[in-house]
This record gives sequence, structure tokens and C-alpha cells, in this order.
Amino acid sequence: MALLTILEYPDPRLTKVAEPVVVFDDALRQLVRDMGETMYAAPGVGLAATQVDVHKRVLVMDLSEEKNALRVFINPQIEWASDDLVSCEEGCLSVPGIYDQVRRPSQVRVRARDEHGAEFVQDCSEALAVCIQHEIDHLNGKVFVQHLSMLKQARVQAKLRKRRVRR
Ligand code: NI
Repeated sequence: MALLTILEYPDPRLTKVAEPVVVFDDALRQLVRDMGETMYAAPGVGLAATQVDVHKRVLVMDLSEEKNALRVFINPQIEWASDDLVSCEEGCLSVPGIYDQVRRPSQVRVRARDEHGAEFVQDCSEALAVCIQHEIDHLNGKVFVQHLSMLKQARVQAKLRKRRVRR
């Protein structure tokens, strides 16, 4: 087990588009375990491989209160999204200390594989829908602040610069 380093926005590596997983082997399962450990330690509710500088289509999430229900989504694809949108406050381990409202479809249906290659379909609503869309964005090289206005994005970058100076 190993804790992985989480990249911070605006690191250009966060803009890379991740490649589909084709081999479901022990190395993949080790990556999933390490990502889970890294997410729980942060602590966070979701982590995309992109955030730990591994550019493969792998996500881990855990929205349970007990933090004992790790979900793994490999090669996730949104098959359907609802027309109705909801605005939710989002945050991100790659954008520490920043939270803002993002509008997204309130429900999505996602097709993915688990770490053994088994395919499944998951209907997502509420927090799960928000989280999976946020994480799939990471695999496409997009961080949630890019959904905000240019003015807000500039404010976020200024705030993060100040944080880094203080550290
Ligand atoms: Ni994120």
C-alpha cells in the first residue's frame, strides 16, 4: 500500500486526457487500492487516477458515512443524462480550500467495469451523480473550477497562489 501524491490545480498534468484500461491485472488492482488509501487519507469522497498523475480511466469513490464502501469505476461512460440540472457545491482534493456551485444533470446512467473487468451499469442520483460526473471530468482533463465563470476562475487561481506562498 502506498499514499500517492495528489496534483494541485493548475498543474498542467491535470489537463491530460486519460487512456482506457485494457488490461485488468494485479498492477491495476494495486493502483485501485493505493488510490482508495490516498482518497481516505486526504480525506475525500472521490479520486480520479489523473489526480495522482496516472493517466488511465480509473475512479474510486466512497460516499458512505462509515467510509467502508469503496466503489471502483474503470472506463466509466455516461450513457444517459437527465435534462434537469441541479446546482451543488463542489470541492476537489486538487483544488484545496475552494468550494463553489456547479450545475450538472441531476441523474446519470454510467456503464463501467470493476477492477476485475466485470461490466456493470449504475444509475446515479443526488451526491453520487454529482461525484461521478466530477470524477469523469478529471479523466477528460477537466477540473470543476473550469465550469465557473472566467472571473471566478481568476479568483480561485489568485487564492491558490496565496495559499502556496503561505505554506
Ligand atoms: Ni476533483
